[in-house]
Amino acid sequence: MILVTGATGTVGSEAVGQLLEAEQEVRALARDQASAARKLGDHVEIVEGDASQPDTLDAAVDGIERMYLLLPMVPTLPQLDADIIAAAQRAGVRHIIKQSNMGAQDEQATTMQRWHRAGERLIESSGIAWTFVRPTGFMSNALGWADTIRSQGIVYAPGGDGKLAVVDPRDIAAVAVASLTEPGHEGKAYDVTGPEALSAAEQVTMIGDEIGKPITHIDIPESAARESMLGTGMPAEIVDALLEFMTDVRAGRSATISSAVEDVTGRPARTFRAWAHDHAAAFR
Ligand SMILES: NC(=O)c1ccc[n+]([C@@H]2O[C@H](COP(=O)([O-])OP(=O)(O)OC[C@H]3O[C@@H](n4cnc5c(N)ncnc54)[C@H](OP(=O)(O)O)[C@@H]3O)[C@@H](O)[C@H]2O)c1
Repeated sequence: MILVTGATGTVGSEAVGQLLEAEQEVRALARDQASAARKLGDHVEIVEGDASQPDTLDAAVDGIERMYLLLPMVPTLPQLDADIIAAAQRAGVRHIIKQSNMGAQDEQATTMQRWHRAGERLIESSGIAWTFVRPTGFMSNALGWADTIRSQGIVYAPGGDGKLAVVDPRDIAAVAVASLTEPGHEGKAYDVTGPEALSAAEQVTMIGDEIGKPITHIDIPESAARESMLGTGMPAEIVDALLEFMTDVRAGRSATISSAVEDVTGRPARTFRAWAHDHAAAFR
């Protein structure tokens, strides 16, 4: 039995679907059983639990052999990881595949990368076999531009000409699923990227091509990005962490391309143009 945490989210729901296609027995950890069941269907066992309430985790890991550990980007992530890793140790889980962040191991790691590295270190010293899936920025982050594309035909984004080898969440899930279901991935850390590094303006142009409407990209300063994110109710600590990441992107430090998707799955990584084509309805 494989446990997927974060199973209702962007990558987790893809991973669940791909595991079911591979005829695996899947359990999902979710904070609301009914809404998870609506999203994931009948073929998944859903255990209600919350990583911030450690006493709910033993039931989730009971009888689990392998776990896809994927939790939200929050400042308490190291503690959430620690509690679920401890539960996995008690339950005798044999292999943890952790969704982390590309660059987590770097000396110059950003705050978000350090939050992930703390969990990676705990897994390394847990005695449980591990695989780290370290994606770069998701192509699906572009869905955050959908409102202003629809209403104004404009994208306001920081990052300048900085390029990022954005990756399709379906490919991240595919790397995780291969790591969960095939031998030979223990002790490996995979940087998971798309096939080309793109600036925000280049991504915007491709979305415009797919919906048949030109979209204007306006590069905004950090102060405006901060104000806008705080305005959505995002906690200041997360806003700071995201802006730190954007500074890396702007400086061209996040443009690395890896071959992990093809190496692990045997298929080339999907392009942003293909992702935009598949998600064009969200931008019309
Ligand atoms: N977005 C990017 O560009 C990017 C890049 C690199 C790495 N990452 C990493 O990817 C992860 C996010 O992946 P994602 O975007 O696929 O997730 P997501 O769509 O943000 O979904 C978050 C998932 O976490 C679950 N969750 C939230 N709070 C929880 C809690 N207290 N206990 C248990 N489960 C909880 C949610 O489930 P319920 O609400 O149903 O309980 C949901 O399934 C983060 O760790 C982030 O650092 C993201």
